[in-house]
Amino acid sequence: MSGDKINLERMMHRLNQLALCSRGSRGITRLSFSRESECANRLVRDWMREAGMVVRMDPLGNVIGRYEGRRPGAPAFLIGSHLDSVIEGGKYDGALGVVAGIEIVQTLRERGLRPDLPIEVIAFCDEEGARFHTTLLGSRAMAGMLREEDLCARDSDGITLAEAMRSFGLDPSRYTDAVRDPQSVAGYLELHIEQGPVLEREDQACGAVSGIAGAARCRFRVEGRASHAGTVPMSLRRDALAGAAEIVLAVERIAGRMPSVVATVGQLRVFPGTSNVIPGAVEGTLDVRSMEDEQRQAALKEICEEAERISRRRGLSFTCRTVMEAAATPCSARLVQAVEEALAKRGLKPLRIPSGAGHDALAMASLTEVGMIFVRCRNGISHHPDEYVAPEDVGTGTAVLLDAVLELTAAETAEKFLNKAVKGANTP
Ligand code: GLV
Ligand code: MN
Ligand code: MN
Repeated sequence: MSGDKINLERMMHRLNQLALCSRGSRGITRLSFSRESECANRLVRDWMREAGMVVRMDPLGNVIGRYEGRRPGAPAFLIGSHLDSVIEGGKYDGALGVVAGIEIVQTLRERGLRPDLPIEVIAFCDEEGARFHTTLLGSRAMAGMLREEDLCARDSDGITLAEAMRSFGLDPSRYTDAVRDPQSVAGYLELHIEQGPVLEREDQACGAVSGIAGAARCRFRVEGRASHAGTVPMSLRRDALAGAAEIVLAVERIAGRMPSVVATVGQLRVFPGTSNVIPGAVEGTLDVRSMEDEQRQAALKEICEEAERISRRRGLSFTCRTVMEAAATPCSARLVQAVEEALAKRGLKPLRIPSGAGHDALAMASLTEVGMIFVRCRNGISHHPDEYVAPEDVGTGTAVLLDAVLELTAAETAEKFLNKAVKGANTP
């Protein structure tokens, strides 16, 4: 058995079907706990059943399909990615990994094959954080990293996560029931589009991920004084938006000086937000990332100090709250090796690419060993309607995933892991 047997036509059809679960006419918008995510969940549940899996939804709304292995009571090998999207994103970010996971199980089933270990395919409910700004909700809940205060995060309509879960038919008070016992898990592998240009430059369909950058997401508020746009002289204003504009440029300047750091202000909301009133307050989001945690922390500290200086000078106040923080995470040597062997089997180079983007694997690393496979995307574009992965690359990436999973779910390979299974056993 090897990865050549996957049904690429079925995969492309499923990716197209998922793309229909979207709001608006530009790109893909599928926010967590929305009508569009319910539509995607329904499709995924059906496909998981068709693939021979027993399907359940956990208390966070993660859809989980389980394909039993031959060893009773053995820990499950997990394959996953997410179903939510950014606003006006692409069709492959997250969806590709879910469809690929289902495909490899369906391929096994159609060949009458059962691995030694059970396989679970997980469609996480919220990786992007596009709705509540607190990213990795589904995988953090599963890894036991979700905090009660996360349930109070609000979307742009003021709806809390707890309220959104309730209207989705979930009971937020049960969020800790989503936590998995590390002993019941034998590793986590995620296939994802690269979202960058390296594979294209290397002229290769897919590669192994070496590790995932650490990240912090913050919400900040600049407070000034709203007043009449026609009567208050320029020198007497306390314009929160003018201050926020200076802060945005400071973010760009500070991160630009630190080679390993990227920082982004992705959203600004202006209050009261009308043409003839001087902005009285601005709320914004700040996203800071780096492969080096110390650099990321230093950048965030410097940004906040500079924002406070700018605000003081302008008679404004500045407050900033970190809503999510994750340390940089290396992929496990065992899983990287399995991916590299699967690449070699296909005559592909053993490329190791660091991931600047966040992934569910980042949270899952608190639960078990993680690995990732990146698939080439056109021009490195992602989080954009133009995101594109060639079908042949979808096929190659999924074949590599299948070969790696076959290796990782074989009893003799799993044995080594089971003997040393400890929580957070990721080793570079
Ligand atoms: C998700 O794609 C992220 O990196 O924020
Ligand atoms: Mn993603
Ligand atoms: Mn994304």
